[in-house]
Amino acid sequence: MNKMSAPGAAGVPVLILKEGTGRTTGKEAQRNNITAAKIVAETVRTTLGPRGMDKMLVSTIGDVTITNDGATIMKELDVQHPAAKMLVEVSKTQDNEVGDGTTTAVLLSGELLERAEKLLDKDVHPTVIVDGYKKAAEKAIEVLDKLSMPVAEKDDATLRQVAMTSMYSKGIVVAKEKFAEIAVKAVKQVAEKTNGTVKADIDLIKILKKHGRGLEETELVKGIVVDKEFAHAQMPKSVTPAKIALLNAKLEIEKTEFDAKININSPEQMQLFIEEEEKMLSDMVTQIEKIGANLVFCEKGIDDVALHFLAKKGIAAVKNVSTGDMEKLSKATGGRIVASVKELTKDSLGEAKVVEETKIGDDKLVYVRDAKNPKAVTIVIRGGTEHVVDEADRSLHDALCVVRNALEDGKILAGGGAPEAELSKRLRDYAVKVGGREQLAIEAFAEAMEAVPITLAENAGLDPIDVLVELRSKHEKAANPWFGVDVYSGEVQDMKKLNVLDPLRVKQQAVKSASEAASMILRIDDVIASKGVEKGPGGKGRDSPGPGGDEDY
Ligand SMILES: Nc1ncnc2c1ncn2[C@@H]1O[C@H](COP(=O)(O)OP(=O)(O)OP(=O)(O)O)[C@@H](O)[C@H]1O
Ligand SMILES: [Mg+2]
Repeated sequence: MNKMSAPGAAGVPVLILKEGTGRTTGKEAQRNNITAAKIVAETVRTTLGPRGMDKMLVSTIGDVTITNDGATIMKELDVQHPAAKMLVEVSKTQDNEVGDGTTTAVLLSGELLERAEKLLDKDVHPTVIVDGYKKAAEKAIEVLDKLSMPVAEKDDATLRQVAMTSMYSKGIVVAKEKFAEIAVKAVKQVAEKTNGTVKADIDLIKILKKHGRGLEETELVKGIVVDKEFAHAQMPKSVTPAKIALLNAKLEIEKTEFDAKININSPEQMQLFIEEEEKMLSDMVTQIEKIGANLVFCEKGIDDVALHFLAKKGIAAVKNVSTGDMEKLSKATGGRIVASVKELTKDSLGEAKVVEETKIGDDKLVYVRDAKNPKAVTIVIRGGTEHVVDEADRSLHDALCVVRNALEDGKILAGGGAPEAELSKRLRDYAVKVGGREQLAIEAFAEAMEAVPITLAENAGLDPIDVLVELRSKHEKAANPWFGVDVYSGEVQDMKKLNVLDPLRVKQQAVKSASEAASMILRIDDVIASKGVEKGPGGKGRDSPGPGGDEDY
């Protein structure tokens, strides 16, 4: 502990920092940070790959999550140490940017730091390591790009394999083929092509989770499923074909903002008043009928009287639909959301072949099926229990992301540790060319990459040394870069032949975020932690390497 103070002129210490502030500097600070980050990386290590194990996470209120998903594990870990928090950030970035490879990214960060620690022991200056790592990461990204194989937009079979690879490690292996097919169809449905580039916004894929039945009953609906019911018992339970009005206005008589008094002196007047209100509502419904709508999705409330009129005319309606669902309904059916009944016109209506109310378990749902060229779709996930459905949801998220990545970039790599092994070889060659002290750092980086095949092997119960030796010799001798760890047969195999395929973007991002995080942690040589401040809201983001903490480090 090194208090920031110095003896003053009279020998009285000059205190700079508040009493109780913790401070560690130099090697001690570096080592603490590295250790903390390594521990976090160690935690997720055993989950990597198809033979990786799951983690059971129990929250403070006793909620149980069983998962293999790196991002979820990292999110649930309530880490305190600032350097450990940075690894949590790495997994978040990886998840937000590319949706998969979170375990890989965290694992690589830990490995890079472990190797850096050894270099620090040999008195290599952190700046040299950071520079070496930066060069190595740039080279790695370039090499990965060169290694990548093209995937055509219409090559659904390959896209399905990419989806399956992301799901091998998840708890839904039994239904992975079905999920892969759904993922590819869903992403392609929402994808749009402009000037030759494909963009797929997977936020337009609505995921609805309903436990009960089995995973194999998970369904892709070419339209939107709204977690609501038709608002009146007398409404038709199914509308075919549906002409859909999307309304962002109340189907009610506006109440005045302030108290207004209406003097009613006789029963006749009362009657007139009610009739007038009813007429206004009836007019609204007539307007809806006139333009040919037979279904209304309303973002706001609908008066009971209006519901009655709608039901009488055979028009179905759903009220209080969320804004998100309204937008997706618009994207799916081609309808336009209007702000008042008056603005409804024929061409503002959306279309779908069938809209029906269906019961799943105890819940009623409204399915908008076979919408007209739907640019938003829904996947209804089914599964035995809530835990199964939740893990299926996380797996599907990964699958949708990898399909999007592969489709948008049109570039994939084989997996199973093959690209990392090849990278390692090429970086070692590159290191020699760079020479000097940085060579040591680049070599360390190259070695760290091998953690992926090594860990895949370890998790499959194989001897990592044997695997590594064979892998290195195959990559050294063969021109084929795709030798990796077949975790099922336990052999070093051509992963491309085995159809284990990852998107280029996932691997590049993993290398990038891992090396950035490692470098950021390495550059810190002074940790000044205030004491007694109120607890912060967690990680401070990748731009603030400083102590975001509230503890003594
Ligand atoms: N059948 C397989 N054989 C060998 N390796 C595989 C196979 N399927 C997937 N892999 C590899 O497993 C690794 C991915 O494992 P996993 O999905 O557990 O971690 P992640 O993608 O890094 O993180 P997360 O999915 O938790 O975000 C990739 O390197 C991938 O190539
Ligand atoms: Mg994965």
